[in-house]
Amino acid sequence: MNKSAVTMDQIVSLAKQRGFVFPGSDIYGGLANSWDYGPLGSLLKNNIQQAWWQRFVERRRDMVGVDTALIMNPKVWEASGHVETFADPLVECKKCHTRFRADHIDTDKACESCGESGQFTDPAAFNLMFRTFIGPKEDAAAQVYLRPETAQGMFVDWPLIQQTSRKRIPFGVAQIGHAFRNEITPGNFIFRTREFDIMELEYFIHPDTWEEHFDAWLQEMRDWTALCGMAPDSLHEVEIAGDDLAHYSKRTVDIEFDFPFGQEELYGLAYRTDFDLSSHGEASGQDMAYTDPDTGEQYIPHVIEPTFGVNRTFLAMLVSAYTEEKVEDETRTVLRLPAWAAPYKVAVLPLSKKEELTKIAEPLADELGEHFSVDYDITQSIGKRYRRQDEIGTPYCVTVDFESLEDKQVTIRERDTMMQERVPLADLPAILQEKLS
Ligand code: GAP
Repeated sequence: MNKSAVTMDQIVSLAKQRGFVFPGSDIYGGLANSWDYGPLGSLLKNNIQQAWWQRFVERRRDMVGVDTALIMNPKVWEASGHVETFADPLVECKKCHTRFRADHIDTDKACESCGESGQFTDPAAFNLMFRTFIGPKEDAAAQVYLRPETAQGMFVDWPLIQQTSRKRIPFGVAQIGHAFRNEITPGNFIFRTREFDIMELEYFIHPDTWEEHFDAWLQEMRDWTALCGMAPDSLHEVEIAGDDLAHYSKRTVDIEFDFPFGQEELYGLAYRTDFDLSSHGEASGQDMAYTDPDTGEQYIPHVIEPTFGVNRTFLAMLVSAYTEEKVEDETRTVLRLPAWAAPYKVAVLPLSKKEELTKIAEPLADELGEHFSVDYDITQSIGKRYRRQDEIGTPYCVTVDFESLEDKQVTIRERDTMMQERVPLADLPAILQEKLS
């Protein structure tokens, strides 16, 4: 199936029907652009986060991880520049009062909401940070922000992280967590929402080496997209120039993906210079410098920041994996997710509900569950159950049939090829482990 032919309707409908993503607060009529990750979606999302953490933190000697607070001292957001500059241009239709991001619409054209022409207010800067209060008093002294990025927790903790981890530059700090932005125009399903998750890392370097580290991280990001099953021709590296550069960045490359609604930002790679550590050093009066243990040179480290949106990864992976094909005059929908990401690695399917089969299949599912996430399904015809597992991306189905009672063998069916092979029950865990490794 041609990837550009995958529609958002197909993705949203599969996501809802199969329990990947539901509209949030659904029984109350929902809340615009709020989404909940269901039984399969939470598994897929966790698998993405775990694979990222394993790859970028656990397997590397030059990385450490942290988990910092969502609500920080508001001085953090003043020093980081977010209070002053983390804003989008907002315009409002004078007739219907719908608000739009000025850079997302043509203000010379009619309002998308009411059809009135030439009726927009002048653009005004709208700060995207959510405000709230801590404690019982709702006054200016109690006002705080929900973090719009995870990065600042890693910058303000930099001296403590460096001292306690005893890492030498170059090294990085990674974190996965929730971020909040009061987006003017959220939309396109989970692509742009007001709460989302980011996997990002700050790589601290000597300023003279920024170009080599920038190139190396760009390659790491490319390798990650390949691991996620995104086709190279669906990805575009876009150099961000001039006024579009964030206030902290000297160079940014966005990795954009061909979503069904167009080419849009998936990830970003930024050279943040020493902007953040220097700003926090000045504002807090703390020493943010690093002393090279070999040369004695003292300097404020510079930072390369690769940032990966979890929810956009999730969406891009669904789009990349979604396929429809004709099998014997029927349409087979297959989610060709990489096996590491699939919500269930194996489904155990007894051919019938009869106890003589379930008494083999149930303990088998329990045994396999020690090694992989396993689904167990006894309802409907075997053909329908295979199709359901294909749709949710399960790489292998194991069928227990009446012959299994005699020959102590079961059938493994492969998702992508639909090939089936008969294997001894006793060897099944080892065979599946081999196939899934
Ligand atoms: N610390 C750098 C930073 O936050 P960003 O490009 O503003 O950079 C990081 O955001 C990533 O978070 C983006 O590349 C995108 O994947 C994701 N992202 C940003 N805004 C989002 C939103 N409203 N909804 C979902 N994901 C979003």
